[in-house]
Amino acid sequence: MDSTVKDLTRPRPAAVPVAHATPIRELDASERSLFLAHLLRLAAEDRYLRFGSPLSDAAIEHYVAGIDWRTDTIFGVFDDGLVLAAAGHFAPVTRPAATPASLGQTAEFGLSVAADARGQGLGTALFVRAAAHARNFGISSLFMHCLSENRAMIRIARRAGMEIRQTHGEADAYLALEPGTIATVIEEGVQRQIALFDFAIKRQLLLARQAFAPLPAPR
Ligand SMILES: CC(C)(COP(=O)(O)OP(=O)(O)OC[C@H]1O[C@@H](n2cnc3c(N)ncnc32)[C@H](O)[C@@H]1OP(=O)(O)O)[C@@H](O)C(=O)NCCC(=O)NCCS
Repeated sequence: MDSTVKDLTRPRPAAVPVAHATPIRELDASERSLFLAHLLRLAAEDRYLRFGSPLSDAAIEHYVAGIDWRTDTIFGVFDDGLVLAAAGHFAPVTRPAATPASLGQTAEFGLSVAADARGQGLGTALFVRAAAHARNFGISSLFMHCLSENRAMIRIARRAGMEIRQTHGEADAYLALEPGTIATVIEEGVQRQIALFDFAIKRQLLLARQAFAPLPAPR
């Protein structure tokens, strides 16, 4: 067994950091183009870190078109211009064969933060939200796949108490989760309302800015 692999056969419920204050909204299928635009803005190196290979625009379009919106959740953080600054794809998955059966029902999470929005905790906030969502969804472990060189992602995973398995330059991270409670369900509901309110306010401000934008100077 790889020396970096801890005993995953007895998952310990990990301490998930307290919910972050960042408003995180769940997108619906009609907003798939927003998610696509966010991913298409990622530079080749970031696409490599996000997907394990520098996907072409067409491959990213294919990926977004393949999202099952009935089972999956896309979480997003919007900036003041209502552009997605960060987004994560939460997908319940069949447990990967290499993982211990005791980890139970699993969901995979992949995330990305726009280059100019990094280092502000958005990646961590998305991760925390996904972990809470998983608990409330009856999922007992969260899984993330990334490259070992992805120090920011490994940092997020380590801080959350994830078990990390590193082989051949790749890292699989697992977080065993406690079952959701009434409190976690209510908390997620509150987070949802805050995110909707935040989005509505930003939209009003954006419309107001556009309405009162100075007219172009006459030629
Ligand atoms: C990985 C990624 C999501 C992190 O987003 P982020 O919003 O910058 O993350 P956070 O601000 O929450 O920071 C996470 C931690 O990583 C640390 N970190 C950031 N960049 C780092 C780097 N290059 N090296 C080491 N640590 C780094 C931060 O300091 C922070 O730790 P701290 O809170 O203890 O200071 C973002 O860099 C990204 O989108 N990368 C491209 C796509 C990708 O790699 N996705 C993950 C694979 S699924």
